[in-house]
Amino acid sequence: MPASSSSGRDGLGSGVRVVRDLDVLRGVLDAERGAHRRVALVPTMGNLHDGHLALVRRGRELADIVVATIFVNPFQFGVNEDFDSYPRTFEQDLARLAEVGCDMLFAPHADTVYPHGPDAITRVEVPRLGDMLCGESRPGFFRGVATVVHILFNMAQPDVAVFGNKDYQQLLLIRRMVADLRMRVRIEGVATVREADGVAMSSRNAYLSAEERQRAPAIHRALLAARDALRAGERDHKRVQLQGYQSLAHAGLIPDYFQVRRASDLEPAVQPDDALVVLVAARLGNARLIDNIEV
Ligand code: PAJ
Repeated sequence: MPASSSSGRDGLGSGVRVVRDLDVLRGVLDAERGAHRRVALVPTMGNLHDGHLALVRRGRELADIVVATIFVNPFQFGVNEDFDSYPRTFEQDLARLAEVGCDMLFAPHADTVYPHGPDAITRVEVPRLGDMLCGESRPGFFRGVATVVHILFNMAQPDVAVFGNKDYQQLLLIRRMVADLRMRVRIEGVATVREADGVAMSSRNAYLSAEERQRAPAIHRALLAARDALRAGERDHKRVQLQGYQSLAHAGLIPDYFQVRRASDLEPAVQPDDALVVLVAARLGNARLIDNIEV
């Protein structure tokens, strides 16, 4: 039974209400806010796993109403990327959201988000943070992310929005957008949910063959080794990065980047007491996997 039906709250009632229409979303959420209920938003592209569900659970702790969104955002996929093959599992996602007591699922059609098509939409760019690391390998990716998240925020006007630390650069970029544009939403980050062998849960893990999946834990192992070296006082970040590259290559992955950066803004760390994050992106078969670890 969905948790929302046993919580005794008024308003939305039991089960997950599926909304596709913007006017309906606004009507329902205006009423909720009018009754002084706080709204949490959890944006996703669907194919929900335990990582996504952890965000919904966190939303429930922070607000009275949790709205998940599922929208496979065409604007953040490059021309040769996996937009068409991205896994779409709507019924299964809905069942999972019910299990964790999500109140509403907003799953807009592309026309609702991009009335004149993604190419004609007013866009949001975050300089530097949007251009480095994944932004360098995937030009336009973070423009697509910032734009769609801004639109979703304006549609739902949440009090709080929940994102995963797994996509660390994305989380920082959204925090920066919210700060720069003086948006009133609070951004909450949630720790990465991992499989038993350390692999970060990701919809793109489904692209791995059984044999590739066995090699995937090399990513988390390399991150742990880097963290341990840095914690032990290693100051030569280039050496840590090189070791990371080598251990990934040795496991048969093709590293895109393995970088030690300042945790606050992803610039190269300069001061000895800078908080650090190690970030990695690597190809394994047809999948491009990313992960990170804070030091
Ligand atoms: P998606 O990849 O579906 O991820 C949705 C949210 O789930 C993101 O905040 C992501 O960081 C979080 N997440 C994914 N895997 C996780 C894990 N293993 N542990 C914890 N959280 C995890 O990220 C996107 O969609 C899109 O870019 C989006 C923000 C929805 C904009 O289109």
